[in-house]
Amino acid sequence: MRTLFCLILTFAVPLILAARAEKPTAMEPLGPNAHNDSTANGYKKKWWKEAVVYQIYPRSFKDSNGDGIGDLKGITSQLDYIKGLGVDVIWLSPMYDSPNADNGYDIRDYRKIMTEFGTMADFDELLKGVKQRNMKMILDLVVNHSSDEHAWFVESRKSKDNSYRDYYIWRPAKNGREPNNWVSYFSGPAWKKDPATGEYYLHLFAEKQPDLNWDNPKVRREVYDLMKFWLDKGADGFRMDVIPFISKDQSFPDFPRDYDGNYGRVYASGPKLHDYIQEMNREVLSKYDVMTVGEAAGVTLEKTPLLVDERRNELNMIFQFDVVHIDRSGGRWKPWTLPELKAIYTRFEKGLDVHSWNTVFLSNHDNPRAVSRFGDDSPQSRVPSAKALATMLLTLKGTPFIYQGDELGMTNYPFTQIDEFDDIQVKNAWKAEVSTKQVSIADFIADLRKTSRDHARTPMQWDESPNGGFTTAAKAWLAVNPNYKGINARQALADRNSIYAYFKRMIEFRKRTPALVYGDYKDLDPQHSSIFAYTRTLGADKYLIVLNLSKHPVAYTLPGSLKAGQLALSNLDGKEEGVTVVDLKGWEARIYEL
Ligand code: GLC
Ligand code: CA
Repeated sequence: MRTLFCLILTFAVPLILAARAEKPTAMEPLGPNAHNDSTANGYKKKWWKEAVVYQIYPRSFKDSNGDGIGDLKGITSQLDYIKGLGVDVIWLSPMYDSPNADNGYDIRDYRKIMTEFGTMADFDELLKGVKQRNMKMILDLVVNHSSDEHAWFVESRKSKDNSYRDYYIWRPAKNGREPNNWVSYFSGPAWKKDPATGEYYLHLFAEKQPDLNWDNPKVRREVYDLMKFWLDKGADGFRMDVIPFISKDQSFPDFPRDYDGNYGRVYASGPKLHDYIQEMNREVLSKYDVMTVGEAAGVTLEKTPLLVDERRNELNMIFQFDVVHIDRSGGRWKPWTLPELKAIYTRFEKGLDVHSWNTVFLSNHDNPRAVSRFGDDSPQSRVPSAKALATMLLTLKGTPFIYQGDELGMTNYPFTQIDEFDDIQVKNAWKAEVSTKQVSIADFIADLRKTSRDHARTPMQWDESPNGGFTTAAKAWLAVNPNYKGINARQALADRNSIYAYFKRMIEFRKRTPALVYGDYKDLDPQHSSIFAYTRTLGADKYLIVLNLSKHPVAYTLPGSLKAGQLALSNLDGKEEGVTVVDLKGWEARIYEL
């Protein structure tokens, strides 16, 4: 089932204290954000708590050589654009050598750059440009699985006694079938029978993504070595792909009888997960001043502190999927309400104490576009709603992650037929559900119009030239959204009222307002169906954020005896101050200092 998708990213990961660094040469000097052990509101101050992160999906960012595929030189050429937004950290989705069964999340060589993206020299140049601009860069660590074309797997599948056999998870058939009833995130069983030995290997994702066997100490050593390779080059940390899945119960029981269909929960419950992450921290992370964020598919809020409580020395933060799963049921789209969304942020506030840190994100390369999903991408509402969402993203508690193109208010793509999609998840689901007539073509496409990962993967829209200035090739690897003539970076940079300009103002505001980073969060009106009103409080500094997340105007009476204070920032022209009733237009967002 398409459901799978859900996985999408969670960033998480706790991070390692600079103070423990043994190899100062491998560290970026901390700069003005260095805090040693000072605290705010009980939280230890850390640069990665104060950072704003920008995610780049290299294939879709900028093509420098006219082959229709984004590349590293393309990213380097746009570093001023990224820096101009005011972000501190870039998260680069995988740029490693890969046959691209899952767009680089299937790695063939962990120490080589994908030929289509350039060379190691191009990578070094990119990293240098990032550092010159005083930014940092974290890489995607994809080590739950590799590509089936990785040299380890090529060896592993040759024979049962190959010295790499135990790098992966092999099992004989059980009663003539797969070893258990686990399913792949990309449709069908999670086991594939391999002709050379007649045994099955485990793949929680595509057949071309065999799961590594973390119970083999040699595999763990290999992973730690490749992490050091990139950290020694100067990378500032990792976003860790489906990291909670690395430990497996080697008896491979079937799904439990009372299982609710949430297989991520099952896959994330391996017995040695925390032993391995603590070992990784001891062996690698603790030696560098880095940021770590785990994509925590299947991890509940209750279990989150096990990964991110700083006293456990695992990760800095995780990506929790509750928000991006709000409109899904069994992988399909379902309607959602604002009170449901607000309840998630309150649960985070109550469920995580000062020892744990969180992330905030509304989109990434596995999700539809934020404005199409949480805002309103109609011509009248796209700009104000994207700004309202930017206000929310940058005032909630947790390190904010902006996905490329969201700063332009890029929208979902108007898909109408199957051959417009690239995503393996879609293609496999089509075979499993439409070809077998379980789902009609119309229903399948209608659902993808709301849920597909490919919405996020259409190329960046740079200007009004053909293909939005993404490439000079006649055709980009994935079609550019036809609305590029009205939505692109050139126009956004020239317009003081653009979504980009607003993101920039919001980021600047967040940077000079510690209450937005470390302050307590309180939802003032959990049940209101269109207003999201909350405070962020750090000592005497208190901010009220009022968002009208609907297109209808609302005369909103502030709860209790609250009076709107001094207006600090807003996305429209409302100027009221000191009032008890705020008159909000559709999608109006305001921040008051109380
Ligand atoms: C993560 C990635 C996603 C990928 C999957 C398998 O969820 O974000 O893009 O398909 O892992 O690596
Ligand atoms: Ca290219």
